[in-house]
Amino acid sequence: MSEFIKELRVEHITKRFPGILASDDISLSVGEHEILALVGENGAGKTTLMNIIMGLYQQDEGHIYINDKEVHFKTPNDAFSAGIGMVHQQYMLVPNMTVLENVALGLKDCWKKTVDLNMVEERIKLISEKYGLVVDPKAYIWQLSVGEQQRVELVKTLCQGVRFLILDEPTSALTPQETDELILLLRKMSNELSIIFISHKLNEVKAISHKVCILRHGKVVFEGNTSDYSSKEIAALMTGHEIEITENTDDSTTGDTALEISDLCVKSDRGFLALDNFSLAVKFGEIMGISGVSGNGQKELAEAINGLRKVESGSIIFKNKNITGKSPFDIINLGMGYIPEERNIEGIVPSMSIKDNIILKDSEKNMFSNKHILKNKSIEEYTEKMVKQFDIRTPSIQTAAGSLSGGNIQKVILAREINRNPDFLVCVYPIRGLDMGAAEFVHKQLLDLKYKGKGILLISEELEEIMNICDRIAVIFKGKIQKVLSRKEATTSRLGVLMAGVSEDD
Ligand SMILES: Nc1ncnc2c1ncn2[C@@H]1O[C@H](COP(=O)(O)OP(=O)(O)O)[C@@H](O)[C@H]1O
Ligand SMILES: [Mg+2]
Repeated sequence: MSEFIKELRVEHITKRFPGILASDDISLSVGEHEILALVGENGAGKTTLMNIIMGLYQQDEGHIYINDKEVHFKTPNDAFSAGIGMVHQQYMLVPNMTVLENVALGLKDCWKKTVDLNMVEERIKLISEKYGLVVDPKAYIWQLSVGEQQRVELVKTLCQGVRFLILDEPTSALTPQETDELILLLRKMSNELSIIFISHKLNEVKAISHKVCILRHGKVVFEGNTSDYSSKEIAALMTGHEIEITENTDDSTTGDTALEISDLCVKSDRGFLALDNFSLAVKFGEIMGISGVSGNGQKELAEAINGLRKVESGSIIFKNKNITGKSPFDIINLGMGYIPEERNIEGIVPSMSIKDNIILKDSEKNMFSNKHILKNKSIEEYTEKMVKQFDIRTPSIQTAAGSLSGGNIQKVILAREINRNPDFLVCVYPIRGLDMGAAEFVHKQLLDLKYKGKGILLISEELEEIMNICDRIAVIFKGKIQKVLSRKEATTSRLGVLMAGVSEDD
């Protein structure tokens, strides 16, 4: 095993991508048992720097030192051997393999001629117990929620016996409760490990880190001891301006029902009833929040409404038409918009350009094509407009959407879905992974849609988001609505209790 890492230091790291200076002369260091929070807006260059440390990218200039000795990592395996592990923002798990097999993939030292899966399972058990990270070794990755996959990534990395842990936005996919647990866990871990923790959420940065380093446009713009600065000060340094909170100020609706779901039963990928006689109605001009711990049927609800999952029984009525069992194509054409949870898989075609992704659902419209011939000029003009309006940070509109940073991919999806002007929008965790400035922008867009009389179903785990912009909030638990509260009735503690499955009548 590697020796202890007393200090990891990078000096004058520079990395260029076509048209972009992703790392601009970055120097920073992390000491033993220290937690450094690396913060910055989407596209600031956080992930790039970590990928360089991990040997996934090679820097154009600059040096990396461990305990004052220069290292040259050619691949992530070199970094692992030195005791450095990373949990990536976009999970690197193989979906059609089990948790156990995925962990085994990262554990070459457990391999003799054949893989000793029993030994791997033992190790998973040990780590799970030590850190309180519950995973089912037999479950397939594709069956797990994003939160659960995150846990698997963490277990996988810890099983490799790392001394230095890099976590790239680990909480963006977690529920508030899971986040609190992770914070406790990381604090405990810092007795044994050094950690670089990437996040936009400054309350987490305050709760966890010893030091904070802020990146803007690839440059270090600030470094200091976390305790010396307030969240507000860090936020202003990160964005370069003060952040205001967007709030819903008008809870009136048009009064007409937009979407009516009755007694809906839908199965999960694992075959059990994910929605169990679920009923809910949303009006035009209303933002209905769905609040709940992930894995309580949210994913299945969004998919069933959009025709992506089989309905066992019950009905979905949209604009007075029965759309139960209709194809996604028909549902889109009826005026349904969808911002899915899995951006890279369901939200975009990663290998296609930004331009093609933006017109994905509208390529047959007159604006973009004429008798099946694409009108490239108007597509380009439209895309350029979207890139500006949504501040999508990209070298060009021809860039493959999949190569953008997570937040920028989300902006491509938002630009497409919001500007199609749907009558109803299903949004699943729309601000997950977005920085505060971008989140503020999204919330303004959603409120605009509402004020125009459109209906919105907002599935979110961010209680603050839900309480700021929804008209009503439905708490989902085990595939059923636990209770529907108005914005005025909802408090964090009341929602938290309902989300945990405690009925208020008990
Ligand atoms: N493989 C790549 N090819 C081209 N550009 C990239 C690549 N990886 C990152 N970038 C660009 O570098 C910039 C920094 O991205 P990233 O490090 O992912 O930001 P962050 O993690 O802070 O959101 C972005 O403009 C992004 O589009
Ligand atoms: Mg990133």
